Amino acid sequence: MSDISAFIFDLDGVITDTAEYHYQAWKRLADEEGLPFTRADNEALRGVSRRESLLRLLKGKVLPEAQLEAYMARKNAYYRAFLAQLTPADLLEGVAEFLAQARARGIKLGLGSASKNAREVLNNLGIADQFDAIGDGYSVSRTKPAPDLFVWVAGRLNVPPAQCVVFEDAEAGIAAARECGMYAVGIGDPTRVGAADLIVPSVAHLQLDDLLSRLALRTH
Ligand code: BG6
Ligand code: MG
Repeated sequence: MSDISAFIFDLDGVITDTAEYHYQAWKRLADEEGLPFTRADNEALRGVSRRESLLRLLKGKVLPEAQLEAYMARKNAYYRAFLAQLTPADLLEGVAEFLAQARARGIKLGLGSASKNAREVLNNLGIADQFDAIGDGYSVSRTKPAPDLFVWVAGRLNVPPAQCVVFEDAEAGIAAARECGMYAVGIGDPTRVGAADLIVPSVAHLQLDDLLSRLALRTH
């Protein structure tokens, strides 16, 4: 028997593909301001907070705080316009089934997202009620790769970090999970999630029984 009691999911890139919307929103801001920004640049922003994303987009250009705030507000307005179109059909393949199977096994479910829009995304996807605890961009000060958010969610779930599995598509998220002793499942490109304990192309490739057997065999 595995001692795993909780699964903690990242949101963007694991449950739904909002990374494209983040890209489109940053790109519009960058174009309007004459700042160079490519899709490759955007890949490096996965899992990174809104402020840190802007600082990276500015590539060392120093601006007054009020200007940074204005840019972040504009990007968020562009992003939220995309979110308004989000429906349950935007759940990535296999996610609804995997969440249901885990719940049926008595595994607690948590969300650990850097996004301040996470609750709205979950509501629009129609899965907010599936989670026993929701950690988002408002929950802690230190963002991923700091372990704080996942530890916060584990606390809310009443489960020790060592009994949690994290599902993440970002390098910063895998680092955060490992830092607090959680088993890390990397979703997607191995160049981003290569440090994970297990890597799969998407949630649709996960088999709950296989995963739990693998966890039961693990030596701590
Ligand atoms: C993460 C995304 O989930 O949330 C990042 O991967 C994003 O791309 C971050 O910057 C913050 O999101 P938001 O919605 O608070 O701007
Ligand atoms: Mg992500």
